[in-house]
Amino acid sequence: TSAQAQQVTRFAFKPILIATDDTVRVPEGYSWKPVIKWGDALFADAEPFDPANGVSFAASERVFGENTDGMELFVVGNKQVIAINHEYANTKINLPNTHADGVADSAEDAQLLRNLQGVTVMEVAETDSGWSVVVDSPFNRRITQDTEIQMSGPATGSDLLKTVSDPTGMTARGTMNNCGSGKTPWGTYLTCEENFNGYFGSTDANLERTTEQVRYGLNVEGRYGYEKFDDRFDLSKDPNEPNTQGWVVEIDPSDPDSTPVKRTALGRFKHENAACVIAPDGRVVVYLGDDERSEFLYKYVSNEVYVPGGDTSTLLDNGTLYAAKFLEDGSGQWLPLTPETTEMAEDEILVFSRIAASKAGATTMDRPEWVAVSPIAAEAYCALTNNSKRGVEPNAGGDETPVGGPNPRAENGYGQIVRWRPAEENHASPDFTWDLYVMAGNPTKHDDDYAGSRNITAGNMFNSPDGMIIDSTGMIWIQTDGDDSNEGDFEGQGNNQMLVGDPSTGKIQRFLTGPFGCEVTGLCWSADKRTMFVGIQHPDAPFPDGEDSLPRSTIVAITREDGAQIG
Ligand code: FEO
Ligand code: CA
Ligand code: CA
Ligand code: CA
Repeated sequence: TSAQAQQVTRFAFKPILIATDDTVRVPEGYSWKPVIKWGDALFADAEPFDPANGVSFAASERVFGENTDGMELFVVGNKQVIAINHEYANTKINLPNTHADGVADSAEDAQLLRNLQGVTVMEVAETDSGWSVVVDSPFNRRITQDTEIQMSGPATGSDLLKTVSDPTGMTARGTMNNCGSGKTPWGTYLTCEENFNGYFGSTDANLERTTEQVRYGLNVEGRYGYEKFDDRFDLSKDPNEPNTQGWVVEIDPSDPDSTPVKRTALGRFKHENAACVIAPDGRVVVYLGDDERSEFLYKYVSNEVYVPGGDTSTLLDNGTLYAAKFLEDGSGQWLPLTPETTEMAEDEILVFSRIAASKAGATTMDRPEWVAVSPIAAEAYCALTNNSKRGVEPNAGGDETPVGGPNPRAENGYGQIVRWRPAEENHASPDFTWDLYVMAGNPTKHDDDYAGSRNITAGNMFNSPDGMIIDSTGMIWIQTDGDDSNEGDFEGQGNNQMLVGDPSTGKIQRFLTGPFGCEVTGLCWSADKRTMFVGIQHPDAPFPDGEDSLPRSTIVAITREDGAQIG
């Protein structure tokens, strides 16, 4: 029938099988090529990557960082500029001579790790041999865990942000654990600070953590050992320093001299990404996930309206932060986080947004990862990646986690994607309706809820949806970060992957498989949409150089052999 014919044409590829090997696989008629890898030079004066030892200390601020995550492409004049996150550094391969526990042994080790994280801004160009970085482009820039950043919005100057390095609370040092991303309609990059807690520790082993420190996962035992070499990372000496992390940071990729800005109005939690959309009346709406089991989904709505070409400098400073409440009947509400609803001061609401959302009565979720907004329909999606303890125990200091609503399974190892439609097709509305677009599962292992929803089959199954973007045609690209053991509950699901979903039919097909050990995260397109850039984070295989090479986080460019657009 014509309806079936239409469905077929929505997918411009034949789905691929799972893989368990060490490379990237894409459908017939498509091909891929590395663009840039961990340690590749952004500037010609950087010492070359050493195949045995990786990046030297001297080169570490002059090269592409490690473990890429969210990325966005910007057209600046006739140039194409990618801004891209480096979520974390793999201590095993960056510090090959350190203790097996991966904790830095010296101030220089800690600094090397800090330099390889943060953000890269880089010009890219296509030549006959494919896409590559334009070395020494004036746009090229590294923003690290030490770059000075301006605080902005209502919490700026709050006592809660006053630190040893800035007793005025007006600035922060560096950006940490940059996970997902966002792109504003005015051409700036949003980088989202996620698991910042792991960088802090206490040299005083008897430190009594505050309620807020417990809720945000700050521990006496630091994960990387930074606190041994710099008081800034020592909770016992600089207790407010972690309050300067956990924000969304706005970066102007067109101006390498610009100071990045932390937008406190968007709240502080383990930010996944920041999905922007303009409401019908011109206000800016930003959807925000907090990736922690049994934490919340948020949105920000600006007070001011976006006027193309107008002043955009305060659009992300003045507005209301909301947290989502999902009801069993398929309706939902955005609960405003205000002094009235939380009995907290405005700066406390923003610095400790998790606690504010608990007080307002938001719904605990199965780890909200990326939110994607459709460019062709008034709807949005959030990947709820998994929740090993749903119905068992809450996040430390968090709320009870009853099974129900968009979190329908206890001990949920597979994850699901929730979809909502704002009332009156207005993303600024306080009301919405919701359903589940997909429940991931394994129909060859289970015949109950854990088999997954009807659009999951033995041929397309996956677990732990994470990265998600809806392309200009309305198709959903779903990237996974889950269990790739291919055993037990996950047998038949193979390595992490990228799939494409059709929102209207629910149909899902596998488009790409990554090398063993990786997660697939980060997706953007060239200006002409003939190339798709995809990130391969933390491969645990000799990827992409093969043989006995070090595993290198890599951006790959995917093109169609017939040169047509992809998405
Ligand atoms: Fe960094 Fe929640 O992924
Ligand atoms: Ca990751
Ligand atoms: Ca993620
Ligand atoms: Ca994840």
